[in-house]
Amino acid sequence: MPTFETHTDANQHYQSGFANDFATEALPGALPIGRNSPQRAAYGLYAEQLSGTAFTAPRAHNRRSWLYRIRPGAVHKPFTRVPADALRAKLVGNFADVPPTPPNQLRWDPLPMPAAPTDFIDGWVTMAGNGAAESMSGCAIHLYAANRSMQDRFFYNSDGELLIVPQQGRLAISTELGKLDVEPYEIAVIPRGVRFSVALPDGDARGYICENFGALLQLPDLGPIGSNGLANPRDFLTPQAAYEDREGKFELVTKMNGVLWRADIGHSPLDVVAWHGNYAPYKYDLRHFNTIGSISFDHPDPSIFLVLQSPSDTPGVDTIDFVIFPPRWLAAEDTFRPPWFHRNVASEFMGLVHGVYDAKAEGFVPGGASLHNCMSGHGPDAGTFEKASASDTSKPAKVDATMAFMFETRTLIKPTQFALETAQLQANYYECWQGLTKHFNPEQR
Ligand SMILES: [Fe+2]
Repeated sequence: MPTFETHTDANQHYQSGFANDFATEALPGALPIGRNSPQRAAYGLYAEQLSGTAFTAPRAHNRRSWLYRIRPGAVHKPFTRVPADALRAKLVGNFADVPPTPPNQLRWDPLPMPAAPTDFIDGWVTMAGNGAAESMSGCAIHLYAANRSMQDRFFYNSDGELLIVPQQGRLAISTELGKLDVEPYEIAVIPRGVRFSVALPDGDARGYICENFGALLQLPDLGPIGSNGLANPRDFLTPQAAYEDREGKFELVTKMNGVLWRADIGHSPLDVVAWHGNYAPYKYDLRHFNTIGSISFDHPDPSIFLVLQSPSDTPGVDTIDFVIFPPRWLAAEDTFRPPWFHRNVASEFMGLVHGVYDAKAEGFVPGGASLHNCMSGHGPDAGTFEKASASDTSKPAKVDATMAFMFETRTLIKPTQFALETAQLQANYYECWQGLTKHFNPEQR
């Protein structure tokens, strides 16, 4: 797992930086200079603003882009509901509607690949979440498993931005604002409202999606870490403008309040010839994360592995934390090095892109997932505890070839009916802690 190489053609169609004020044009002069809405835009294009925050949001949080496109986004036929029985996916947009959340530790095997042809949108299933899309608060956590490119079909999400974590298979994401090629170990973020289509260059594709109903994901402050470290802004890549001038019979699909709708559209909506602004899709290679940890003793809190956060109205308390556990050296001396046993006020949904997670020797496999909700006790399994308690900590050890991640939220992560009933739910997960026997002996320190 090389760390510093760029795995896709980063310089060809990307701009570097996190939420910069980008400017890009696919035809020379398509972007107006010094203004947003000229009386007549160049090349006969239409100007359209796409807002991701309230007009009046403070400047540091204000996000919008101006698009110069062949036809405005308004040009399509009326939406009608996609019949529920046409979906493999079971989507949830309001987590008031799910069964009571069990206090058990939960873990799932990977979703099987679909038997029938299934594209990126039809391949979603909602596993868990909190809040509601309609109140723009909380999140939904989906898994996707797909085996067919979206054909003459475009999608935008009315409910929130999408943090996509591929686990298997590359995604070629064509968006209104340009193209993103994303592979496992990378993530993509597609803002609310941005229209896109996903092709699958490798055929089968599987992964995780955190759908953020709330405040846009941002880079965390670094505090005493200083001005560098964790996810550095320049490693976030946003596409250059790229457009399609294509007419035909196409379908535009959106998800609004957890329900899928479709409309006929006579042209490709990916017809933006130029754009500028700071509301745009981006990708990030998790192998570029500058992991920071203890060089004396004791394992820091996992917030040290924070990549992106969705802040809440309460200072210091996030609605969503996206945290990764990448390859790293463990150097803390006379310390139990794996993640310690813990019970948290926060709730934790974990996934695994590759390898083995250092708190679980078995049972948590790439493509699988676990959920430890508020105050649910968890930590290393019995085998990991015994091994780590006896290991030599006078020398550093490498945790290698792994990439686990966590969607952590301030409120309960409520599993859906699907998640509680699926055959992938492991009934025996609790057993991994049953081997933690009593070592206590009041006669021996
Ligand atoms: Fe945990």
